[in-house]
Amino acid sequence: MRRRHLRGVMAIERRAYARPWSPNLFAAELSEPETRSYLVAKIDRDVVGYAGMICYGEEAHITNVAVEPMLQGHRIATRLLVEEMRAAVRMGARAVSLEVRVTNWRAQRLYARFGFRPVGIRRNYYAELHEDALIMWADDIRSEAYARRLDRIAAQLPEGVRPA
Ligand SMILES: CC(C)(COP(=O)(O)OP(=O)(O)OC[C@H]1O[C@@H](n2cnc3c(N)ncnc32)[C@H](O)[C@@H]1OP(=O)(O)O)[C@@H](O)C(=O)NCCC(=O)NCCS
Repeated sequence: MRRRHLRGVMAIERRAYARPWSPNLFAAELSEPETRSYLVAKIDRDVVGYAGMICYGEEAHITNVAVEPMLQGHRIATRLLVEEMRAAVRMGARAVSLEVRVTNWRAQRLYARFGFRPVGIRRNYYAELHEDALIMWADDIRSEAYARRLDRIAAQLPEGVRPA
């Protein structure tokens, strides 16, 4: 993700979340590339999805994943997560965490395919929605088995979304 992508990113962000991140927050994240990976998915010049990951030492955290509503269900988020999990391995992580709304089944199913398992609840984490967050972790992402899992997911992606 580059600053020039922020307009397209914000257009999706505002529709995806009740409490969207501000452009300044994205810009602050982009100013720390040593510990962050922010990726966009594009069709031609248009941003159609993005994902973010922070890595500190052996632990990484998925901060954001969103896809343009009209283009959901085409595995764009899956591709973004393949790339973010590989980036986490490259940056030295052994495990990755994330928070997701307890009623966001779709995102939870997506994360489960990547080996994320529910480990706890943060009460009222999404206070504006009066909703709890499910905390999910994926362990052992440096293992051979996990690399194979990512390769398998990537190989099953449809053409156009699959890595070249
Ligand atoms: C959650 C979100 C990012 C998913 O994006 P997406 O690009 O639609 O996700 P994908 O297409 O990669 O994967 C979802 C669908 O692809 C299909 N799919 C993916 N992998 C598949 C596989 N291996 N086999 C069969 N179907 C598969 C499924 O239909 C799946 O949807 P389902 O599990 O609900 O049936 C998107 O809905 C979104 O932006 N939501 C709003 C923001 C949000 O909630 N983000 C998560 C915050 S934690």
